[in-house]
Amino acid sequence: MRRKVTIVGSGNVGATAAHWIVDKELADVVLIDIVEGVPQGKALDLLQSGPVEGFDSHLVGTNDYSDSADSDIVVITAGLPRKPGMSRDDLLMKNYAIVKAVTEQVVRYSPRCILIVVSNPLDAMVQTAYRVSGFPKNRVIGMAGILDSARFRTFIAQELSVSVENVHAFVLGGHGDTMVPLPRYSTVAGIPITELMPPERIDALVQRTANGGAEIVGLLKTGSAYYAPSAAVTEMVEAIFKDKRKILPCAAFLEGEYGVNGLFVGVPVKLGRNGIEEVVQIKLRPEEEAALKKSAAAVEELVEIIKV
Ligand code: NAI
Ligand code: 2OP
Repeated sequence: MRRKVTIVGSGNVGATAAHWIVDKELADVVLIDIVEGVPQGKALDLLQSGPVEGFDSHLVGTNDYSDSADSDIVVITAGLPRKPGMSRDDLLMKNYAIVKAVTEQVVRYSPRCILIVVSNPLDAMVQTAYRVSGFPKNRVIGMAGILDSARFRTFIAQELSVSVENVHAFVLGGHGDTMVPLPRYSTVAGIPITELMPPERIDALVQRTANGGAEIVGLLKTGSAYYAPSAAVTEMVEAIFKDKRKILPCAAFLEGEYGVNGLFVGVPVKLGRNGIEEVVQIKLRPEEEAALKKSAAAVEELVEIIKV
């Protein structure tokens, strides 16, 4: 049977994720948006690239959630993106109302789906979707760590002039200014970068990673990043559908892991057909643990404002 992914929000991240997903023939895709015509137009345009690109995945664009019925995965990208000078947290109240309304509709038509949330501020929005959906925690996942790690990997590969395929990196914590890149777990062909670069260069790359979203907003001026974010969503969809049990950094609901309780925070998880199969616990040094706690506290502040 063909798999079905619904993407809510047919803007930059949503439409580009649809592009990657159909191009890889991972699933048929339903694109939804509140604006009439946009999801229909983008879905039809993308569908018509199929004969050229050679994919048979089907696409539908709609404003009606009944078209999303029985989706296996629903990706929520609906909401406002950042403009220059805005932090992700400035989006809190507006995107909370949007994500809440979207989740209610999604759950009505796809009660068994896995939810992947992208809308910002990410950790608070995925917590909103978790509370509103009433889904078990393995079926509600936030996308951010893969993106933040991909940025770190890109900068490491550029710095050392090596293939990005040789570079693995871990970024934990909330998707915000307090994110926690972990240099000693970041490797090039298995060698920790702490063996390959002086501390000041590592610090510079860590800083650029934490500022990675703002760097792109500053360049684009009218919106935020979408190619790398949508590629990250696609990696999650692929890991779930292929039951790869791939270890990836994602926002997961923690109940005591890493000393965090009752909050979504970015940690390594094993992604497979049930969504989050396991939260992978690694031993952190005291300073890393303190940075993760600080990051979790920043997430908690937002969650308390919206009371989810
Ligand atoms: P965009 O503005 O291009 O697209 C957002 C779409 O959502 C628009 O088409 C809009 O009409 C739609 N929308 C608004 N309210 C809706 C509703 N109630 N129902 C259905 N659709 C609705 O924005 P973009 O660049 O696609 O970003 C989307 C969200 O993802 C933003 O909140 C952004 O900050 C976030 N983001 C998060 C990342 C992460 O790492 N977690 C990375 C990149 C973006
Ligand atoms: C990013 O990191 C805006 O959260 C988005 O690019």
